[in-house]
Amino acid sequence: MHSVYIHIPFCNNICSYCAFTKFYYNEERVKKYLDALKNEIETNYKGEVIKTLYIGGGTPSCLNISELKYLFDIIKIFNLDEIYEFTIEVNPENIDKEKILLFKKNKVNRISMGVETTNNNFLKYLGRKYDYNLVKEKIKLIKYIGFKNINVDLIYALPNETFNDLEKDINKLLELDVSHISTYSLMIEPHTRFYIDKEKEIEEDIDWEMYKLICSKLKENGYKHYEVSNFSKIGYESCHNLVYWNNEHYYGFGLGASGYIENIRYTNTTSMKQYLEHNYKEELEYLSNKDIISYELILGFRKIEGINKQDFYNKYNIDIKSLYNIKELLENGNLKENSSHIFINYDKIYIENQILMNFVGEENEKV
Ligand SMILES: C[S@@+](CC[C@H](N)C(=O)[O-])C[C@H]1O[C@@H](n2cnc3c(N)ncnc32)[C@H](O)[C@@H]1O
Ligand code: SF4
Repeated sequence: MHSVYIHIPFCNNICSYCAFTKFYYNEERVKKYLDALKNEIETNYKGEVIKTLYIGGGTPSCLNISELKYLFDIIKIFNLDEIYEFTIEVNPENIDKEKILLFKKNKVNRISMGVETTNNNFLKYLGRKYDYNLVKEKIKLIKYIGFKNINVDLIYALPNETFNDLEKDINKLLELDVSHISTYSLMIEPHTRFYIDKEKEIEEDIDWEMYKLICSKLKENGYKHYEVSNFSKIGYESCHNLVYWNNEHYYGFGLGASGYIENIRYTNTTSMKQYLEHNYKEELEYLSNKDIISYELILGFRKIEGINKQDFYNKYNIDIKSLYNIKELLENGNLKENSSHIFINYDKIYIENQILMNFVGEENEKV
């Protein structure tokens, strides 16, 4: 079984921090883009059963009703499994009743909203064009129409953000009572307004304290911390993101999208011109068995429960503990194990990236 990611690279407004592949919404361009997307899917999709589908962006909800209908018509090509997860990303400022009803009619069963912060001054600072009352109104509407599986994104570690600000943010998000919360520490990325304005990320130790505050508050309030930056109510983990972290196959369609099919990891072009000329793929990475195992470790250890030792053995016919310096990492307490799994020591989760560097590019004769 496979999964599908579809990128819709249009937004009504460009946020100050965002380095994603996106353009201002333009009706003529959207039409051409959807035509090219249809062609890309028809040319590359081989008819596999699809268990998770994710439409991200950009902002898919900035498309108008007829464009969304066209998008859903394109998506009918996929052979969806009986049990599936179908997510669409939305932005509070351009989602309305008609669009939410259209999602429901077209089998969407999970909605992800970029909320970012509940503080109106910070929303303005981030370049978001709504206030928090609109978020509350739209979440209420989404629930009223019958969606139970809702994610909200939170950005923290903003310059000048205090612990008190963050705590208020979390409390207000908790009041929304959604099934999933994704958290992101603000990164100042090239090609963004913040980068041009020379904004600075906050100090690492404050970032770490803020992360700990988020983890403890969300866990106290019934959310399971199941991946470094992701929290969910029981049974509402993101199946689509778990496909990534479990190193399983997925198609990526659309501008700048990436995919992993049959031992090839690929990334599509970010040039709209090339994409509209049907030159989709930009980079291909052919994976050796060693590369695949390296990905399995780097992605798998992002999950708080870690990697299942028996599943790993069944997949690669090799004992995970014989790889790289895993035994040493267990001895020095960076990794831990129980009867079924090996996982990053929860107290070391903040230096996870450093620990994962152990599995990049090193020779290992067993692989
Ligand atoms: C594609 S956007 C979400 C959907 C929609 N476009 C929106 O903004 O509402 C994915 C998420 O990545 C996070 N994000 C993007 N750029 C970031 C950055 N530079 N630092 C931290 N988080 C970032 C934000 O939380 C954002 O909601
Ligand atoms: S954060 Fe979302 S709405 Fe803002 S520019 Fe990026 S993709 Fe567009």
